[in-house]
Amino acid sequence: MLLVSNRLPVTVRLDRGRVVVGRSAGGLATGLRGVHASPDSLWIGWPGDTSRFTEAQRSELGRNLEEMRVHPVPLSPAEVTQYYDGYSNGVLWPLFHYLLDRVPLEAASWDTYVRVNERFADIVAELTQPGDHVWVHDYQLCLVPALLRKRRPGLRIGFFLHIPFPSVEVFRTLAWRSAILEGLVGADVIGFHTASYRRHFVDSVALLLGHGVTLAARPDETHELRVGARGVRLVVAPMGIDNAAINTMAGSEEVRAEADTLRQEGTRLLLGIDRLDYTKGIPRRMLAFERLLEREPALRGTTRLVQVAVPSRERADAYRQIRQQVEEHVGRINGLYTQGATVPIHYVYRSLDEAQVIAHYRAADVMLVTPLRDGMNLVAKEFVAARSDLDGVLLLSELAGAADELGAALLVNPYDIGGVASAMARALAMPAHERQARMTTLRARVEVADVNAWARSFLTELDEPPSRVGVAQPTPARRLDDVLASLRAAPRRTLLLDYDGTLVPFAARPPLAAPDAPLLALLRRLTELPGTSVHLVSGRRRADLERWFGDLPLGLHAEHGLWSRWVGTTAWTMRPLPPDAWMDVVRPELEAWVARIPGTAIEEKTASLAYHYREAGLAEAPEALRRAAEEYARWLPVDVLQGNRVLEIRASGTNKGAIVLGLRERGELDGVVLALGDDPTDADLFAALPPDAHTVQVGDVPLPARHRVDGVERARALLEELLVKEDV
Ligand code: G6P
Repeated sequence: MLLVSNRLPVTVRLDRGRVVVGRSAGGLATGLRGVHASPDSLWIGWPGDTSRFTEAQRSELGRNLEEMRVHPVPLSPAEVTQYYDGYSNGVLWPLFHYLLDRVPLEAASWDTYVRVNERFADIVAELTQPGDHVWVHDYQLCLVPALLRKRRPGLRIGFFLHIPFPSVEVFRTLAWRSAILEGLVGADVIGFHTASYRRHFVDSVALLLGHGVTLAARPDETHELRVGARGVRLVVAPMGIDNAAINTMAGSEEVRAEADTLRQEGTRLLLGIDRLDYTKGIPRRMLAFERLLEREPALRGTTRLVQVAVPSRERADAYRQIRQQVEEHVGRINGLYTQGATVPIHYVYRSLDEAQVIAHYRAADVMLVTPLRDGMNLVAKEFVAARSDLDGVLLLSELAGAADELGAALLVNPYDIGGVASAMARALAMPAHERQARMTTLRARVEVADVNAWARSFLTELDEPPSRVGVAQPTPARRLDDVLASLRAAPRRTLLLDYDGTLVPFAARPPLAAPDAPLLALLRRLTELPGTSVHLVSGRRRADLERWFGDLPLGLHAEHGLWSRWVGTTAWTMRPLPPDAWMDVVRPELEAWVARIPGTAIEEKTASLAYHYREAGLAEAPEALRRAAEEYARWLPVDVLQGNRVLEIRASGTNKGAIVLGLRERGELDGVVLALGDDPTDADLFAALPPDAHTVQVGDVPLPARHRVDGVERARALLEELLVKEDV
């Protein structure tokens, strides 16, 4: 198991010529420590600035790190400035946390971001052996999965995003957004803390990677993307903490004693512990505390806020500014509300060791975790784990990933200063039985969903063999032979065949996809097989089917099951439909799209308006149109059908599955059924058939079918095989 992250669990620096190895701050380094404890793991990452180390110091460091099963990726000062400060923390970090105004006017550091990601991929590729699993972490290394796959195609690659994945409307503002997505989908498994982050990611992929990536037929059920021939599984795995270790430490003598000294007789303690980062909402938290003291004079002199700010990313201007801002608030509020010896805000700008942190958790009456956005926030969970006394109140931002799991906390909107102040007052006044009840619920969650459960759930997905994780491979010839054998052996068989994309390749415009002579011959010979009925089940208009196939003894089904012409008659019958006044609403809007995008066209059918965009060279219908179509489906009696480069708005109520009733009445489902189709409109037919029907997906749009063949040629070959006698 190779863990790959920008920051290692240790950060090295020089202190008066001596190499000092210290613990790294931040959720990722803390959280992954447990996984790295396993002796067959290796952690690859940046050890911090080693540019001023001498050769001797470097080799000493190398030896130290090797013993810790850590492999350093050194970065030059210029690389750190551009890849780490510049693109990762200057662009991706604020943007993924919805703080768009912090993204610089021009992000010039992309090239270095790419180069450093390549360096990581090279080093990891070098260190892996066949069969290894690689687990890449976080936004600094978004390109590594695809880069690594290029270098080592057979590796199992996982990626976990520790920060939020923003809504598509925010993500789409990112320069290089497609490259970031393409890098990520190089992984076999991508993990997110919450279901919303995953949903946002899927939306972004759908909008921005239309060409190469398709969503599985029902993304909310399968959570799988299809990239070429690979499946990419998207999992929600909320990260946890080392609950057992924190519990034990919280009960230790050392921690108890320290907690006692932190508590002060007659005063209540509010606590904040954060990396000093502008996403953590510290200034607003202080304003809320100020508002509290302003509103409730009785709390002055009796209520303290201890704010521990762990130094972080200090080279960056934004971080220097936030520090200054926080310190100004501390100064001002303390100036206003200090009473006697009681200073309202006690501000600590340094990192504390683990025992000290836990002692603070134990001493607090109210824990304030109020980030403006946070991927997860492990401080909230650590606080809960430390409170084996079932006391203390957690006040938690609803914009932290942790809020999804910790609903028993007091949830607040961190932007609402008055609201946070009220929640602080409520927390301070909360009766003991309520504190205990809430803490009991919180602890149950933190205990089961700990860091081991998190790692296990992700790694179980990564362990799945790719064929099971990925979308269907073409069905092996052996199994198709079984299908053919069962068809041949049956006294009656029914073939249900889609037309475009299944029996003929797509043409630029619908009228051009006329059947060729070999196809007509194939269909005729199929109808001549004893006991065999053959149906074309198409989205096309009656006129097309009649012109091309009217002379053959085929069942013809037009407009996705709206019209049927059964064998032995030339009359078409139509299934009943709701009124079609909706067409007058939708038609002018589609016409406006045709006027705007050359090469697109409307096809008007009895009960639908189809917007074709193949000839315009578009992979997907314009996003605004797709959204409009969703709106139509909400307000009008219509369904929206996504075909292959055609978006169809049609009267609701019928689909290709509607023909199944007629087939049943005619006894045509009594024998063996073979159904072939290539797009989601065919899935409606598949779903309506008896479960033992042989359903076959043609091509690479994932459908809930039992079998898959690669394309039109393979589909036709399968039908040809039916004509071959087994003993020949
Ligand atoms: C967050 C990020 C991590 C990062 C940590 C500390 O937890 O998700 O990737 O390592 O902050 O930030 P730093 O820039 O010091 O690595």
